[in-house]
Amino acid sequence: MATSGLFISFEGIDGAGKSTHIDGLAQAFRAHGRVVTMTREPGGTPLAEKLRVMVLNDAMDAMTEALLVFAARRDHLQQCIEPALARGEVVLCDRFTDSTFAYQGGGRGFDLTILATLEQWVQTQQEAGADVVRQPDLTLWFDLPPDLAAQRLTGVRLPDRFEAQPIAFFKQVSEGYRQRMTSDRPRFVQIDASNTRDAVWLAVLKAVQSKGWLA
Ligand code: TYD
Repeated sequence: MATSGLFISFEGIDGAGKSTHIDGLAQAFRAHGRVVTMTREPGGTPLAEKLRVMVLNDAMDAMTEALLVFAARRDHLQQCIEPALARGEVVLCDRFTDSTFAYQGGGRGFDLTILATLEQWVQTQQEAGADVVRQPDLTLWFDLPPDLAAQRLTGVRLPDRFEAQPIAFFKQVSEGYRQRMTSDRPRFVQIDASNTRDAVWLAVLKAVQSKGWLA
């Protein structure tokens, strides 16, 4: 039987420290003989990477921001994620739609019902003749208090439009993540990102192994 694809997304506010663990998980899956596609949102295709530059740098209202991240997501799904899953690969995606609910919904206060409609439009795929709304098989939410995240980000590099936001914005983003997790509990594992890097890595590994992967 063909190996089935796995779709894992990584979420959290800026500074929560997901990147090193995405790399670590890619290595672990490769050591188990799996082919891994590492990708990110907004981005992951030439078109979506162009949209990313706009979203991160150009002034725009919340609706424009939401439409651009979903346009990028559509291209990313069609060109990168769906084909990789169809080939049976492990797709590790740095951010996905939960970021939109957290940042545009929670942070910017944009209408969650409209986001849910866009999610249905953009993520609906044909699978065995039926429509399914593509979602990650597992989402790791790196949860870190916004004041700690701000300390970690200080002076690292020139902040983009999101990183430049005040702590109050990131409190709303965190609340957006919390709500989103509550609405789809089985998909999420909440990771306490204030722990040491080693402890966070063990939590990441445990979350993946508890799904029966990397066992
Ligand atoms: P991020 O993925 O954290 O990359 P880097 O560490 O290189 O800055 O940055 C992407 C930013 O885009 C992040 O601040 C969150 C934001 N974002 C949204 O606002 N909505 C979305 O739907 C996505 C995917 C990201």
